[in-house]
Amino acid sequence: MKDLLKTEHLSRADVELLFETAARFAKDPTSAAETLAHKSVAVYMSKPSTRTRLATETAVAHLGGTPIFLRSDELQIGRGETIADTAKVISQFCSALLIRTYAQSEVDELGANASIPVINGLTDYDHPTQALADWITIREKFGKDISGRKFVYLGDGNNVTTAWLMMGAIMGAHVVAATPSGKWAPDTKVVETAKKIAQANGGAVEVTHDPIAAAKDAAVLYTDVWMSMGDPESERKEKEIALAPFKITEKLMATAASDSIFMHCLPAHRGEEVEAAVIDGPRSVIWREAFHRRTTIQSIIFHLVRGELKG
Ligand code: CP
Ligand code: NVA
Repeated sequence: MKDLLKTEHLSRADVELLFETAARFAKDPTSAAETLAHKSVAVYMSKPSTRTRLATETAVAHLGGTPIFLRSDELQIGRGETIADTAKVISQFCSALLIRTYAQSEVDELGANASIPVINGLTDYDHPTQALADWITIREKFGKDISGRKFVYLGDGNNVTTAWLMMGAIMGAHVVAATPSGKWAPDTKVVETAKKIAQANGGAVEVTHDPIAAAKDAAVLYTDVWMSMGDPESERKEKEIALAPFKITEKLMATAASDSIFMHCLPAHRGEEVEAAVIDGPRSVIWREAFHRRTTIQSIIFHLVRGELKG
């Protein structure tokens, strides 16, 4: 596997390898500091980012390389240079490329035209590097044996939902997405693919529109913002009404398992998708989750440049 374009492309073996190395980079960030010596990694973004940019730039630095941050509106791509030509040029200067953009097709096209590894740093479709950070955090809390546990996402059926369902399926977990029905439910193709992957790994994928039933006895309650980057402002009111029942409140959290944790990819909007008392409370693991953005991205870059992910 040359690139990490979608979560669903990862095999269970890839994930285990990535976790093992990420755990090493958590303890000893500079233990592979020769990997990118005298090399550069491009970080190309058309959307804002706090964590993904910081995590990637520090990961590259820890691997001994230099990150080069590129904003799409400062490249010739904004003036009509093609994605394919841009991919070929970046490949001549850099050892890898992480991209954050809107259309998944743009990332796929970059991957197809670049000779270097291309990493999806978030699209409207998926957020694979987030899913890896989420699951290494879950492992730290619950260990390898997750049988009998339920891992629940509540909220908008968006890119983070895709990553949650696909990654949970790869882990052989019982994963749930509780979302409104209709246009804010996860894409049916995503659900179909996740179900197939889950079947092969001994897991189960469930989509429901009942937040109360979903949260009951869950090991994890996970949520994300209601308005994602690029979502039309004109839909905000309608969306807030549809998503209100999926807010993670103290009351909902109390119905989850007694050792349950709260997770959020961040950025968060306290009072919207989650109550402040939950996200800032004792069950919240958001800072460990954010910390692991660096360890996992460092692990992805390390193994991709060495050609060690198989897909
Ligand atoms: N979770 C996440 O991707 O955060 P940023 O948007 O800040 O990169
Ligand atoms: N769903 C959110 C995730 C941000 C990390 C967005 O796309 O804006």
